[in-house]
Amino acid sequence: MFIADLLKDKVIVITGGGTGLGRSLGERFLELGAKLAITSRREDVLQKAAEEMSQNGGEVFYVPCDVRDPEQVTKMVDAVWQHFGKIDVFVNNAAGNFISPTERLSSRAVDSVLNIVLHGTFYCTLEVGKRWIEAGQQGTFLNIVTTYAASSSGSGFVTPSAAAKAGVLSLTRSLAVEWAKYGIRHVAIAPGLFPTEGAWSRLVPTQEMADQIIHRVPMRRVGNKEELSNLAAYLISDQAAYINGEVVTIDGGEWIQGAGQFNELIDVTEEQWDQLAASIKKGK
Ligand code: HXC
Ligand code: NAP
Repeated sequence: MFIADLLKDKVIVITGGGTGLGRSLGERFLELGAKLAITSRREDVLQKAAEEMSQNGGEVFYVPCDVRDPEQVTKMVDAVWQHFGKIDVFVNNAAGNFISPTERLSSRAVDSVLNIVLHGTFYCTLEVGKRWIEAGQQGTFLNIVTTYAASSSGSGFVTPSAAAKAGVLSLTRSLAVEWAKYGIRHVAIAPGLFPTEGAWSRLVPTQEMADQIIHRVPMRRVGNKEELSNLAAYLISDQAAYINGEVVTIDGGEWIQGAGQFNELIDVTEEQWDQLAASIKKGK
């Protein structure tokens, strides 16, 4: 289904689009014919990314914006609208996160994550949604969440992120219903482990943690960015026009491995199973 013009002439905005997963999404959307706007706090990062991303053709416009500030969000959306004349898809991808025991967090640390993830997503959604409604234009929001939001498990040691992403998921589902009458669709993706500089430096800071992390995934590998980008391209395309309010998990089975009570038995060898079976049968 990934025909070359799947996203032809769609104007797509990606927050946090200059690095990591946001950049990978943008690169794939460009290949499929989209026009792109990327935004985040650091202008130098955006400028370099925009230059590199447009090398194979396609247009990449960039606007610096801190999504925690509603005035900057309004200006950013104004700038994109003025440049392209419309927005078709808005990807709420920008995030902040780091591991820490919760009792070590200051209120400012909590705010820094909640304000980027929950408030930032809300401000962007409100700003763009109001314009779509006023213009009578259809549109799609894609929100990037996490498996600990999608599975409703939450997660210790990243509690501001867990609370904020759960809020984003709730926003996704709430507006999927409320704004469907305007032709506005909401979808979300919950990625598992996709190594990026931004996430790994804050969440997997040691080699030992990096070596261990793969054991969380039954497929024993991390995800690759093309897999994520293809899923995103499908979800924002017209091919997925009837998908609304859904979150798609892409994690190689990671969260469900953690949830199953006996799933750690995956590491038991055949020999150990022979011994266990003998011992169980003897006991009956
Ligand atoms: C405890 C910390 C801390 C840490 C910062 N703080 N890092 N507290 N442990 N490791 C505290 C600071 O001391 C300060 O509080 C407050 O948080 C704000 O810190 P600043 O550095 O001033 O904030 P700011 O410059 O706004 O940066 C925001 C940030 C930073 C979230 C802290 O990490 C950032 O810019 N992140 C953006 C990119 C990112 O996080 N990418 C990863 C997304 S991955 P005090 O009280 O001292 O003033 C993701 C995926 C999850 O979400 C799933 C993966 C598998
Ligand atoms: P990343 O490269 O650190 O991406 C975060 C982006 O958000 C950066 O481009 C950053 O740019 C931007 N950003 C941060 N604060 C901002 C603010 N206040 N205003 C505007 N932009 C801001 O990490 P990533 O791994 O690609 O994460 C991308 C998304 O995937 C996030 O939503 C994350 O939660 C999600 N995710 C990732 C993984 C994974 O395994 N990597 C797993 C699950 C979910 P600036 O610093 O320039 O602002």
